[in-house]
Amino acid sequence: MTRTLRDLPAGLAGKRGLVRVDYNVPLDAGQVADATRIEASLPTLRWLLRRDVRPVLLSHLGRPGGQPNPALSLAPVASALAGLLDAEVLFSAPCDGEDALRASRELGAGQVLLAENTRFLPGETANDDALAGRLARLGDFFVNDAFGTLHRAHASTTGVPALLSPSAAGLLVERELEALGALDRPRRPFIVAFGGAKIGDKIELMRRFTERADRILVGGAMANTFLRAQGIETGSSLVEEEALHLARSILAAGGERIRLPTDVMVLDRSGGEGDRVESVESVAAGAIEPGMAALDIGPESRARYAEALDGCAAFFWNGPMGLFEDPRFAAGTFAVAEAAAEATAAGAFTVIGGGDSAAAVRQAGLRDRVSHVCTGGGAALEYLSSGRLPGLDVLTERTRS
Ligand code: 3PG
Repeated sequence: MTRTLRDLPAGLAGKRGLVRVDYNVPLDAGQVADATRIEASLPTLRWLLRRDVRPVLLSHLGRPGGQPNPALSLAPVASALAGLLDAEVLFSAPCDGEDALRASRELGAGQVLLAENTRFLPGETANDDALAGRLARLGDFFVNDAFGTLHRAHASTTGVPALLSPSAAGLLVERELEALGALDRPRRPFIVAFGGAKIGDKIELMRRFTERADRILVGGAMANTFLRAQGIETGSSLVEEEALHLARSILAAGGERIRLPTDVMVLDRSGGEGDRVESVESVAAGAIEPGMAALDIGPESRARYAEALDGCAAFFWNGPMGLFEDPRFAAGTFAVAEAAAEATAAGAFTVIGGGDSAAAVRQAGLRDRVSHVCTGGGAALEYLSSGRLPGLDVLTERTRS
């Protein structure tokens, strides 16, 4: 069993709780553009503050490649956190120096310290022992609440808890694992929907779910690869050529349970580049012509997919049905989001498990009308595929020792 906050020993008052959070949030003009991940960390921070713990927070932001990059500083996140937490949030850069150590020791009641982006240091992604040691000095115990980063074996996720005891999973991690764990033995009918571009990233999970799910709905660019794998012309649509064999193996394993779009929304550039003629239309999946790019599922497929969700008992969704950032190709994704909300209202347990599909559900205003929206797509996929996550294993192992 993974150790949780409730397993921490009594007498935490005045101690420094080193908390790994996932504040890898989108920034726009130096401001936090979506605070979902910050909000998701608040229950753990409040739990600690209520017990007079001094939280010291570690996070990465983006992929700066082991070098400081002002555009990826966590400073704007400190301001956003202060507004949401109603606590004084101090900021320290770099995350591993003497200044950070002193700031952690000087923290007073009700104060929180956020340290600068851990990935500004090369040792973070290399899981360098020396860096893990310097980070571990910032706390008296460790909490990992960075669900979205549990699939990374980095200094701040697996290195620190190997050195700092006790360590535990935070409330966000607990909530995420509970929701994903419920899909291990889902109530039936169990429906899954996969979209997005890359089959390779999701192949293990698709294989697992072909054994377990009653229907597998496929959309997004990935649907083009499945159509092509069946010998269907896909025009200039995005197709993952190297994954055609994987698509064929899924089709063979899933048989009738796999649903591919029967129609698609295409961007037709057949007017030629020179005259810049572009049109958007729906065509049958078997009628995609050269010069047409399928960018969303079509109206008939939207209705079929929504109907598949009608009466389901459990639903898992990863990956948008089309290029939903462009309103011309958003209808498929929003139709599935709406169908998920309706299924939830009818009693189904619905889990949205990926960054883009989660963003679509939020954009559609349906975040509170589904059972659970994961804060980490990559971590959710890895956990559902293998049942393990490096950042979790290290917490579990310590419990046994
Ligand atoms: C995410 O956004 O998926 C997590 O924060 C992990 O980020 P990474 O893929 O850059 O490791």
